[in-house]
Amino acid sequence: MRRRLIAANWKLNGTGAFAAEYAAELVPALEGLDPAVEVAVMPPAILLPALRESLNESSGRRVMVGVQDVSAWEAGAYTGEVAASMVADQHGSFAIIGHSERRQYWSESDGRINAKVLQALSAGLDPILCVGETEAEREAGDTEAVVARQIREALADVPESDWRHVCVAYEPVWAIGTGKSATAEQAQAVHAHIRGVLGELDPAATETPVIYGGSVKPETAGELFAQPDIDGGLIGGASLNAADFAAICRAG
Ligand code: 13P
Repeated sequence: MRRRLIAANWKLNGTGAFAAEYAAELVPALEGLDPAVEVAVMPPAILLPALRESLNESSGRRVMVGVQDVSAWEAGAYTGEVAASMVADQHGSFAIIGHSERRQYWSESDGRINAKVLQALSAGLDPILCVGETEAEREAGDTEAVVARQIREALADVPESDWRHVCVAYEPVWAIGTGKSATAEQAQAVHAHIRGVLGELDPAATETPVIYGGSVKPETAGELFAQPDIDGGLIGGASLNAADFAAICRAG
């Protein structure tokens, strides 16, 4: 049985007060959710301790927390960075790595992303590696080649025993924040391809969950998550509303 995960990516949004209100609304709204579905929220790193405390105060289902990036370095003179081990020290469980916004605005290369994935794993975090093609790459028929390259390079040298901690998020760049989700058929086709690439990398990677992100809404989540190779979702805009995010979790 592969893991099922629904994760919220707040991006650059939120305050301490917002985190407290969000936790107080989300936890009760998840009551009765299938316990096999893992739920995680990734606020900006500075809000992680406040969000975690608020989630712990609301009695009910366990909701994990994580960050949207980690440093490629363990420690030292790297001003402004947050190390994976610091996230683990603050009881974070997940780290989104290689999001297309970081690839685009911070020119993150597959090699740098690989270093971050390995840092996350060695700190005991579960990395959520984001991959996905641009609109131009899709139109050129390069989708499969692009995601295969991103996966092979970003997940190089993952120790065999760590594969159960890895998650891949397929996020077509053209679907992020555009309101234009991939159709369930388009997403399923790429997820099946990703599963093949993972299997070629390491037989232990066939159980790696592959989740979908890009304009997922409560109305579209059910059909996407019902696809055989879609193991959950990474939710941006819709995750900022606790009721909408809870509805998406229920579709998982
Ligand atoms: P949206 O759900 O806002 O399209 O964002 C998706 C995303 O980038 C999640 O990481």
